[in-house]
Amino acid sequence: MTDLVATARSLFAQGKGILAADESVHTATARLASYGIPTSAEMRRQYRDLFFGAEGVERYLSGIILFSETLLEKGSDKKLFPKSLAARGIAPGVKVDLGTEPISTSPHEFITQGLLDLPERLAEYKKQGAVFTKWRAAIRIDGDQLPTSAAIHENAKRLASYAKEVQSAGLVPIVEPEVLLEGKHSRARSRTVLEEVLGTLFSVLEEHSVDPASVILKTSMALAGSESGKKDTPEEIAEDTLAALMSNVPRQVAGIVFLSGGQTPDEATANLAAIMRKAKELNAPWPLTFSYARALQEEALSIWKGKEENAPAARAAFLARLAKVSAARL
Ligand code: 13P
Repeated sequence: MTDLVATARSLFAQGKGILAADESVHTATARLASYGIPTSAEMRRQYRDLFFGAEGVERYLSGIILFSETLLEKGSDKKLFPKSLAARGIAPGVKVDLGTEPISTSPHEFITQGLLDLPERLAEYKKQGAVFTKWRAAIRIDGDQLPTSAAIHENAKRLASYAKEVQSAGLVPIVEPEVLLEGKHSRARSRTVLEEVLGTLFSVLEEHSVDPASVILKTSMALAGSESGKKDTPEEIAEDTLAALMSNVPRQVAGIVFLSGGQTPDEATANLAAIMRKAKELNAPWPLTFSYARALQEEALSIWKGKEENAPAARAAFLARLAKVSAARL
C-alpha cells in the first residue's frame, strides 16, 4: 500500500470521522454573526480552538479540514494547530479551493475557483503540516432546469485537475461535488442529480488518470429539498443515497464521507446511522463516515456565544454530539 492510500484509509478508523472546520473568512464571519458573535481574526482563532482544544476529541476524529489561515495559528496550548492535532493522532487537512462564483452563461449555477496557483499553494500547505486536502463544487437543483450538464461537467473537470495536482504533490484529495439541499425538489430528483453528478465525476477522474485508491469522495445524501415541505425518513434517505453510490462510485475509492448540508444535528446523526445499516446490508465496498461542519458545531456555537466562560459547556455539547455521530457510524 502506498503512503497516500494508507493516509486516506486512516481517516476511516473505527468509530471516527472528520470535522470540517474549513469555513472561509467570509463563511466563518457569517456563521459567527448568526450566533451574535462579533468577528475578527482573533475571534476566528478562538472559534477553531473551541473545537480543536476540546479534551478527548481524538477519540472521535481521525482528521480535521482546516482553512488556510488556521494552518498558521496557535491554540491555547501555544502549539501551531496542525502540530497539536497531529500529536494527538488527528490528521490535519486543508481546503484548497478558493470558493465559487456564478457561471457567466448560467448565472444561477456555480463554478469553483483555485486551479491557477494550486501547485505552489499545495507545496506551502504540505510544509505547514497538511496531509490531505478538499475541493468543493456546488451543484444547484432547480426543477428540471438545473443543474445543466455543462455545469456538472465543468465542475467535474476542475475536481479532476485538482485531484491530479494533489496526488502529484503527495497529498490525499477529497473531492466534494455538493448537491445543495436548498430548493423545492423531491428526494427522487435529488437522487437523479446525485447519480448524474457522481457518474460524470468518476468518468472524468478516470480520463485524468487520477488514482481512485487514494481519493476520498465527500458527498451529499439523497433527500428532498429544504423548501419542499417534505421530510424523508432516514431509511428512505439511506436507500436512495446507497443506490446512487453503488451504481456510480468505483469500488477502488478509498472511502466516502458525508456532509451535513443544512440538516439538523439529530437528522444528520440518524441519517448516517441508517446509511451505515443499509451499506452493511448491501455489502458496500468502501468505508463510510461523517465529515460534518454545521451538524457537529451548531449546538456548541449556540452555547459558546463567543464568551470564554461558556467554553466548557460548549465543548461538552460538542463532545456529546461527536459521541452520538460516532455511535451512528458504528
Ligand atoms: P456541512 O456539514 O455544514 O454541510 O459542511 C461540510 C462541508 O465541508 C461543506 O463543504
